[in-house]
Amino acid sequence: MKQLIDKLHKTRELEPAEFKELIENRCSELSEYLFAKARAVQIENYGNNVYIRGLIEFTNYCKNDCYYCGIRKSNSTAERYRLTKEQILQCCDTGYELGFRTFVLQGGEDGYYTDEKMVDIIQSIKNNHPDCALTLSMGEKSFETYQAFFEAGADRYLLRHETANEEHYSRLHPHNLLLKNRKQCLSDLKKIGFQVGCGFMVGSPFQNTDCLVEDLLFIKEFNPHMVGIGPFIPHHETPFAKEKAGELELVLYLLGIVRLMLPEVLLPATTALGTIHPQGRELGILSGANVVMPNLSPTDVRGKYLLYDNKICTGDEAAECRNCLQGRIEKIGYKIAVTRGDHKSKL
Ligand code: 5AD
Ligand code: FES
Repeated sequence: MKQLIDKLHKTRELEPAEFKELIENRCSELSEYLFAKARAVQIENYGNNVYIRGLIEFTNYCKNDCYYCGIRKSNSTAERYRLTKEQILQCCDTGYELGFRTFVLQGGEDGYYTDEKMVDIIQSIKNNHPDCALTLSMGEKSFETYQAFFEAGADRYLLRHETANEEHYSRLHPHNLLLKNRKQCLSDLKKIGFQVGCGFMVGSPFQNTDCLVEDLLFIKEFNPHMVGIGPFIPHHETPFAKEKAGELELVLYLLGIVRLMLPEVLLPATTALGTIHPQGRELGILSGANVVMPNLSPTDVRGKYLLYDNKICTGDEAAECRNCLQGRIEKIGYKIAVTRGDHKSKL
């Protein structure tokens, strides 16, 4: 198995059967071997820097009904909210003071935010903070809409593919959502010039090793700038309420594999990872991740943007999270970078 890791390290790819073998035969010794290489590759590319992104959860209205997600439209118990442009700009100002140089606007697919409204918000953020990068994460849009967002100044876009297996995709989403459309959006975003992130949940219902192999092959082929990988965590008001959460060990293992496969990728240790284990994010960094995305949303809405149960940091101020993370990151020998933290290919 170590030879497979060596091969992955050297050639940055494996055959499907080899990925499968590597995943199925994982053990703690092998994981340590993988993580040591993943850390070395991360440090070769980005030093001991961890990049921070200020996450602004600007709306929890969503027209979609994904079976795993707590803000799906059928969840009538979710307390819905939208941030105003002024509130969003205020979050950015607070974030800037705290050293954030990337802001991520994330929200459900909410028709209230028309292209016109978004373009205005994007332009205002970039105008107020010209030295910052702006990332959007607001789902599937047309080529023209993505283009308008890019021209307004947005730099990056996160759109997880969720699973690269068609059949699996249809078991996680209602039938109006298709993997084909998701992939089309990802390729549109790249073509327009965004730094693009795809990704998937680990341990989502009906996922098997073959799905994970397909995810890895898709990621290799798509060659994104960012990859979001976190555990699935059930939300009590969804059809998957009774399903079990993804496993920490498997998430870490896949982070390590992705680091070797795409040495320059920006790879977050996600909030969901921090939710399933008290040191989840630190363990993520020690497995090859190099990004953390603390919350900058106003405290009064924090507890409403709940994609899954038991989400961490819903009661903490932005400054508390910033300081907390700095302590955690320094404790494991890394440092927070006060820079945009662009992908190497875009520097
Ligand atoms: N558990 C973990 N991650 C989730 N997401 C949505 N619902 C859940 C859940 N229950 C992830 C999806 C989405 C991202 C914004 O959050 O992968 O793309
Ligand atoms: Fe939010 Fe630690 S990161 S309190």
